Amino acid sequence: MDFGTVLVLGATGKTGRRVAAELRRRGFTTVAASRTSEVRFDWADRSTWEPGLTGVRSVYVVDSQGPAMGVEMTEFTALAARLGVERLVLLSARSWPEIDETNPHLVPERAVRESGLTWTVLRPTWFAENFTELEFFAPLLATGELRLPTGSGREPFVVLQDLVDVAVAALTEDGHAGRTYTLSGPRALNFTEAVAEIAEAAGRSLRFTPVSEEEYRADVAAAGYPEDVADLLVTVLHHIRDEGGASVTDGVRQALGREPRDFSEYVKATDFPAAAPTA
Ligand SMILES: NC(=O)c1ccc[n+]([C@@H]2O[C@H](COP(=O)([O-])OP(=O)(O)OC[C@H]3O[C@@H](n4cnc5c(N)ncnc54)[C@H](OP(=O)(O)O)[C@@H]3O)[C@@H](O)[C@H]2O)c1
Repeated sequence: MDFGTVLVLGATGKTGRRVAAELRRRGFTTVAASRTSEVRFDWADRSTWEPGLTGVRSVYVVDSQGPAMGVEMTEFTALAARLGVERLVLLSARSWPEIDETNPHLVPERAVRESGLTWTVLRPTWFAENFTELEFFAPLLATGELRLPTGSGREPFVVLQDLVDVAVAALTEDGHAGRTYTLSGPRALNFTEAVAEIAEAAGRSLRFTPVSEEEYRADVAAAGYPEDVADLLVTVLHHIRDEGGASVTDGVRQALGREPRDFSEYVKATDFPAAAPTA
C-alpha cells in the first residue's frame, strides 16, 4: 500500500528530527516542518498550516505546548481532514494523565481522537536522551552536576529510537489505528543510578544532587527562566520523585512485538563530550 507523503511537525526537535530521518531512511516521502525547517510551520501562524498539510496523507504531530494548544489542535485536525489527510500520530506524554486527568495537555489528545481521522497517540516516559539534549539538563555535562528535585524517584526512561520505531510504524503500517501506546524502557532507575552509568561511559566525574523545591526554583530563576516554566518543571519532576510513572509499560511490545531498548543502549550509543579543560 502507498502511504503517501508524511508530514513531520517539530522536525528540528528531539523526536521529530529522528522520525523524519528514519522515514527518509526507509524511503518514505517526508516533509519536515517547524518554524525553522525547510517547510515553515508555526502553530501561532495559521497561514502556515495549509501549505504544510497540502498533499499529505499522514502527520507526526508535536503540539505547541502553549496555552492555545487545545484550540489549535481542534482547528488543525479539522483543516487536515478537509485537505484529505488520513492519519495522525500525536506525541503526548505518559505523565499528563498520571498527574491530573483534567490536565490541559490532554486536550490535544482529545482533539486528535475526535478528529474523525485515523489516529494513534504516543505517551512516552522521560526520554533517555534528555541527559544530553534537554536544555534543563545541560549543567550535567557543562559543570558535572545535575541538580533536580527528584529525590531517589525512579523513571523507566525510554530510548528515543524505540519511540521513533513506534511512530514510523503507526505512520506507515496498518494495525495501530485507535491505539494509545504508553512507551517506557524495560528498567526504572533513579537519577543517581542514571548519572553513574553516564559518568562511567563518559569517563568523567558526574554527579546527581537531589535538591529541594526551593533550591530548584532558585536554580531555574538564576538560569533566566520565568516562574511558569519552574512551575511546570517542578510538577513533572515531583511526579518522578513520587514514582508516579515508575512502572515499566509494554507499549513498545504492543506496537512492535519486541522488547524496548534498555537505558544502557542509549549510554553506549552516545558520544559524551569530554570535560571542559580546566584553566
Ligand atoms: N523530553 C521528554 O522526556 C518528554 C517525555 C514525554 C513527552 N514529551 C513531549 O515531547 C514534546 C516535545 O517534543 P520533542 O522533545 O520532540 O521536541 P523539542 O526537542 O522540545 O523541540 C520542539 C520542536 O517543536 C518546534 N516548535 C516549537 N514551537 C513551535 C511552534 N510555535 N510552531 C511550530 N513548531 C514549533 C521546534 O522547532 P522550531 O524551533 O524550528 O519551530 C522543535 O522542532 C512535548 O509535547 C513533551 O510533552 C517529552
